[in-house]
Amino acid sequence: MKLPAIASDRLPALLAAMPKAELHMHIEGSLEPEMIFALAERNGVALPYASIEELRHAYAFTDLQSFLDIYYAGASVLLKEEDFYDLAQAYLARAATENVVHAEIFFDPQTHTARGVPMETVIRGLSRACADARAQGTSAELILCFLRHLSEAEAFETLQAALPFRDHFIGVGLDSSEVGHPPEKFARVFARCRELGFHIVAHAGEEGPPAYIWQALDVLKAERIDHGVQAVHDAALMRRLAAERVPLTVCPLSNQKLCVFPDLAQHNLKRLLDAGLCATVNSDDPAYFGGHINANFQQVFAATGMTAEQAWQLAANSFEASFAPAADQARWLARLQDTFERFAAPAEI
Ligand code: ADE
Ligand code: ZN
Repeated sequence: MKLPAIASDRLPALLAAMPKAELHMHIEGSLEPEMIFALAERNGVALPYASIEELRHAYAFTDLQSFLDIYYAGASVLLKEEDFYDLAQAYLARAATENVVHAEIFFDPQTHTARGVPMETVIRGLSRACADARAQGTSAELILCFLRHLSEAEAFETLQAALPFRDHFIGVGLDSSEVGHPPEKFARVFARCRELGFHIVAHAGEEGPPAYIWQALDVLKAERIDHGVQAVHDAALMRRLAAERVPLTVCPLSNQKLCVFPDLAQHNLKRLLDAGLCATVNSDDPAYFGGHINANFQQVFAATGMTAEQAWQLAANSFEASFAPAADQARWLARLQDTFERFAAPAEI
């Protein structure tokens, strides 16, 4: 496809305006401090922080685990179906303003069922927000994630509890503390999920080694790798990811905040694209990492000097990497082309 030339000063606005899919966003990670305090009040939950500012102050992370400890504590205010609805509705409304046309949203049911919240409460609240977003023109789906720091048996129990609601989620994923919890720990759970017809994704190669990405592909049969930035340390793996167009859902601000890279200028997103991988840009946990999807695009482009051509590639990759029907992907791609043509014509802006 021939891309029109676009002036570099228009790049930030183009990144915001272009249609895109978000494929790696944990709904619990979109819980803003303001909403944590509002829900704590609504539900009578005591918080160990005196103010929103004090809570925000605690968002200084040194690695994945230092973040997860605060992230799971924040989720403790979610109790009722209405809370899950409000959370997902707020994210989807924000995503629509950022020109997200399709979202595949992760949720962590074990974080909630462990506190006595029924699976039905979690799924019905999130699913209703997705249905409302669809009615307003944003495509939205759910992906259930198993917490890898918990046991295989607990993952099986979670799957069992979710099966009465299987029509409400399209896939399963694997998240939480990576190092020490390799994908193969969940081989049998994912085999069962494949038999049941779910899409399969897995976090791998965020902090963990390339071996975890191999396992996610060969043992879990993951269709996408979440993060995957450590793949650059294994040339054979890079060749395979490129040859098979295995998508990587990359999250630049997350990687910066969790010290995966010393700073954003060192991020390897451009290198992944240059190697022919189907990389995408996503926000991971926008309330904790300082920005939603457009901030991720704009900041990583500014820090690494990527171009409009790479913007087009990343948006096109996000549609290709999605689990949406081919006809929808084609429609979004045509809208992407329209956006680029609009930005190439100065008089019309
Ligand atoms: N859960 C929420 N965000 C996560 C991340 N970046 N890695 C692993 N698990 C997560
Ligand atoms: Zn994640």
